[in-house]
Amino acid sequence: MTHESILQPRTVLVTGGAGFIGSNFVRYLLAAQPDVRVVNMDCLTYAGNLENLAEVADNSRYAFVRADIRDPRACVEVCQENGVEAVVHFAAESHVDRSITGPAAFVETNVGGTLNLLQAARECGNLRFLQVGTDEVYGSLGPTGLFTETTPLDPHSPYSASKAAADHLVSAFGTTYGLPVVITRCSNNYGPYQFPEKMIPLMINNARQNKPLPVYGDGSNVRDWLYVEDHCRALWLALTKGTPGRVYNIGGNSERTNLEVVKAILRHMGKPESLISFVKDRPGHDFRYAIDASRIHRELGWSPTVDFETGLGRTIDWYLAHQPWLDHIVSGEYKKYYEAMYAGR
Ligand code: NAD
Ligand code: TYD
Repeated sequence: MTHESILQPRTVLVTGGAGFIGSNFVRYLLAAQPDVRVVNMDCLTYAGNLENLAEVADNSRYAFVRADIRDPRACVEVCQENGVEAVVHFAAESHVDRSITGPAAFVETNVGGTLNLLQAARECGNLRFLQVGTDEVYGSLGPTGLFTETTPLDPHSPYSASKAAADHLVSAFGTTYGLPVVITRCSNNYGPYQFPEKMIPLMINNARQNKPLPVYGDGSNVRDWLYVEDHCRALWLALTKGTPGRVYNIGGNSERTNLEVVKAILRHMGKPESLISFVKDRPGHDFRYAIDASRIHRELGWSPTVDFETGLGRTIDWYLAHQPWLDHIVSGEYKKYYEAMYAGR
């Protein structure tokens, strides 16, 4: 790491800051970096929720702009009007199952929206740009091996294909225009404020209501789980200390089969395993994701600090202590989504 590569931005644009990881990142940044202002640009899709940020809403170093990254002019304006010096780009359609039933929105936001932000970053002074990426762009592993930064991209779902296309655009802007871009690719996150369409909060929500826990296939698929705050810390390091043009994998070193995770949730909540219901598998279901995070460890000094059992316990306790937050979400559009996705499964 050279001294020149260290960046101290005063104003950071966070896109998608009302979502799961984005809202955790906004809170993390305001607490950990007392000299940084955060501008949150989010159009508030079904997944965006300002309740996630209620505790920072009045912070003088925080501003919310309701705007859509699919609008190129809005991307430029938000940067110009707020004196943005760096961009951390989370905003995305993020759920694999929704990408299977409706892929177009994934291309529009994840590819088109990323292009608009890259152009805005160029136009507004060649801003440092952090693309918050996913390990799913690498495809699927068999029982052994790990994804490294040189693993070829081989996305399988419309979601991961749109994220891979976005990553390619980001690196092309680095190579072609000299935009100082950094890409991170992280494994599955879990923790407070995750929308209950994703596996862990969905299972917690169902278990608290004694509803069946729908495990796809035989539950042997493997994910490498990372507690969201560990991801946030890695992202700040990658933004401020990462070498432009470089990719950093981020992972939890916590591989678990889905069945192991679901059983751990039931155990922690004191619920019976008879709630487990094996349902029809996801089409094109990637078997295993696992990350080699040695580059970010070696070059930026990052490693995960929260082990899976501790993080899962903390997450369950958080959901149980925030049932009005969960009730609010699952009473609306979510009901229709759940019926459409799970009724015939
Ligand atoms: P999320 O679905 O919880 O939040 C997405 C946010 O983006 C929402 O607030 C939504 O309103 C906003 N958004 C969507 N479309 C928008 C648009 N057109 N304009 C403005 N805002 C828009 O997602 P998440 O799980 O927090 O994921 C955030 C990012 O991290 C995504 O880019 C995702 O690919 C990446 N990622 C997620 C994981 C994970 O495990 N969740 C792992 C690795 C990488
Ligand atoms: P998910 O949280 O959707 O993340 P991703 O597909 O991006 O990894 O799913 C995590 C794993 O859990 C994945 O293997 C699919 C599985 N899964 C279920 O078994 N049942 C469910 O209801 C959901 C949503 C996921």
